[in-house]
Amino acid sequence: MHSPVQPGSMIAGLGTAVPDRILTNFDLEKMVETSDQWIRERSGIERRHILGADENNSDLAAAAAKRALDEAGLKPEDVECIVLATITQEHPFPATACLVQAKLGATHAAAFDLSAACSGFLYALQLGDSLIRSAAYRNVLVIGSEALSRVTDWQNRSTCVLFGDGAGAAVLVPSDGKRGILSTYAKSDGRLAELLWIPAGGTARPASRETVDQRLHFIQMEGREVFKHAVRTMTDAVKKAVKLARLEFTDIDWLIPHQANIRIIEAIAERVHIPRERIVVNLQEYGNTSSASIPLAMDEARRDGRIQPGHKCLLVAFGGGFTWASSVVVL
Ligand code: UT7
Repeated sequence: MHSPVQPGSMIAGLGTAVPDRILTNFDLEKMVETSDQWIRERSGIERRHILGADENNSDLAAAAAKRALDEAGLKPEDVECIVLATITQEHPFPATACLVQAKLGATHAAAFDLSAACSGFLYALQLGDSLIRSAAYRNVLVIGSEALSRVTDWQNRSTCVLFGDGAGAAVLVPSDGKRGILSTYAKSDGRLAELLWIPAGGTARPASRETVDQRLHFIQMEGREVFKHAVRTMTDAVKKAVKLARLEFTDIDWLIPHQANIRIIEAIAERVHIPRERIVVNLQEYGNTSSASIPLAMDEARRDGRIQPGHKCLLVAFGGGFTWASSVVVL
């Protein structure tokens, strides 16, 4: 018999935000050579929410954060640290987290961005948990927020059908002993960076006429390779998180995976024998929202009553870098 893991931090509030504007597969049929049937069969996606011209990443992040803070019973000025996981920063610098801080009025917080692509929310959760455990801060606002529509190549059918915009936020505070983060796990493999990336716009290839003409400021992905690595590494990651939490898969109430492709999710679930009815899937509505996908799915399942207080949620993600990460959380 294993002794139970003592959680250091817990999620005291969750909140999400997505843009109102919806782009359906049928809309995409008018933009590129694709079909609703292909997109649904290959990915499971039916719609995605897309930012309006006058909205941006920090608006979504601040809206999600406000909801999470309200639920946690905290005021913006109570926030001590903001970790914003994003790969769609509004500017090379300053950090988008600082723009979110200003929009919230979180005047007493330290704020910075974290870049781990689709694994970003779980990387930020691991960091936030450690910051609470070490008593560096009494609360940490962890956000995953993306404006992927701004870096999507709307002329490339193999990527433009996949992504959407959205944000999710969680307020971490010291655990009350019942709720909490039971385990966190994160890994990377930078040798595979070029399989999923935006080639230009950084210091390696600053913006130039050529980089614009060659469409190098948009997401590029080797879909099939990414698919294979995603299944292998996320299968390994869920095993690691369950083991670190000193649990068995039968103890897990909900698998909440990164929402990139229904076939990836089913392949992982099959390998660890988690039945379909215990998996939270909402990619049909939002597409792949990168660092926002896990909090979006978690919040939805909590609000509709699937996740009940005390349920054990197994979170897992994979993204560019490559990065992958997992966590067991009692909500
Ligand atoms: O969030 C970060 C992690 N990202 C992921 O996890 C994504 C991982 N990859 C995937 O989800 C899948 O690889 C995709 C959904 C991107 C693609 O599915 P696939 O089954 O791997 O398709 P494929 O790339 O092998 O393409 C199959 C065919 C190709 O045609 P040919 O070469 O067989 O003639 C593509 O050109 O489908 C074609 N194709 C399309 N056809 C219609 C590619 N995109 C489209 C499209 N509509 N949108």
